[in-house]
Amino acid sequence: MEKLQAMASLKKSSPNVPFSQEFAQELLNTYGSPLYVYDGDRLRQTIEHITKAVSYPRTKFRFASVTNGNVALLQIFRSNGWGLHANTPGDVYLGLQAGFDASDIVYSGSNLHPAEMAQVLDWGVTTLNLDSLAQVQLCCEIFVNYKYPSLRLGLRLNLPGITDNNRIGVYPIEFAEAIALTRGVGLKVSGLHFYRGTGTNATAAFTQVIDSVINVAQQLPDWEYLDFGGGFGYPYHHGGVAFDWQVFGAELTDRITRLGREIDLVIEPGRAAIAGCATLLAQVVSVKWQGDKQIVGVDTSVANLSVPSVYGGYREIVTWKQGGLHNSQFKTDICGNTTYSRDYLGKNCQLPALKIGDMIAILDVGAYGFAMSSHFLHRPKPAEILLENSTHRLIRQREDYTVLLANQVLK
Ligand SMILES: Cc1ncc(COP(=O)(O)O)c(C=O)c1O
Repeated sequence: MEKLQAMASLKKSSPNVPFSQEFAQELLNTYGSPLYVYDGDRLRQTIEHITKAVSYPRTKFRFASVTNGNVALLQIFRSNGWGLHANTPGDVYLGLQAGFDASDIVYSGSNLHPAEMAQVLDWGVTTLNLDSLAQVQLCCEIFVNYKYPSLRLGLRLNLPGITDNNRIGVYPIEFAEAIALTRGVGLKVSGLHFYRGTGTNATAAFTQVIDSVINVAQQLPDWEYLDFGGGFGYPYHHGGVAFDWQVFGAELTDRITRLGREIDLVIEPGRAAIAGCATLLAQVVSVKWQGDKQIVGVDTSVANLSVPSVYGGYREIVTWKQGGLHNSQFKTDICGNTTYSRDYLGKNCQLPALKIGDMIAILDVGAYGFAMSSHFLHRPKPAEILLENSTHRLIRQREDYTVLLANQVLK
């Protein structure tokens, strides 16, 4: 049975920190460090903001759980009327555990082998966006043998001049063959799926291609739905350009309404929905100075949060500590607790002089945070907790060292 803990004050001393120092300390005392902290209220607000931005009545939102597969968080999306976008059979599995109806799960993935494709269909997923003729053919072969009712097949579009340096997708020139394959087994290609790119904050990059995508979709004789994918950006650089959901929603609604036919619209936001609701709390375990640069060692690593090392992705790092005289800030590297050469959570941050025991907060880690954590460097993974209704509760146990032996075959 999960334990609920009443929350200490969330009052913040500065707009940069996610909650008060007292509260951060209470969380670390209760659950240990490092710790993934999710703000359920903030997540709900973001879901509402995105949902309201697209007024087209036949719109379905499907959260891309590639970004975060914690079942407690998936349930928040479900309770707010969103379905799920599954990139892999594992996403479908987690979605079903979270209580999503299989008909509310859209599979838009790549490169399944036959047993996996059969598994996805056996689980009852009825909308599949496929990214190659070979996957269409495989799906048709399995469909013929099992005759799943009410399957909706879509093609992931590789749009010449826009996404054609991408490995994923089907060119319009291949549509005829896909249609022939599906008709041969009594199926239709009823959907077009388009994914603009990854993490783009430039709203125009999306709005400028709406017409092209719709034009291509109209080449499908049985076209019933448009899935506009994910890839919508999140402003990790605070104060920087942010993806404008209002503009995107209004333009997409306008273009589809003007079509004059009843098309279903699917949107699969990932990071845009969940990035901002989470913080990774950690503690300072070592400080040294190299000239005027502060080298701060913390009790987490890029195995707990790999985006900075894998993509060089920026995540803002803040602390509750006040600077000394004149609030001095120093150039600071925040380093993980290993000697791995890329174990930097942040480079050249501006932070006050820190000391052992101080807390830091790495912001906006809800997407591709825990989901991309690994056992590389052989450290157990952190716990995850959820703040909700003035309480906090554990939503994933902290691992211990036994996890490092899991599935190893010992003599
Ligand atoms: C088909 C599809 N939809 C949605 C997403 C979510 O992407 P993002 O987090 O950029 O919104 C992904 C990510 O891989 C994807 O492949």
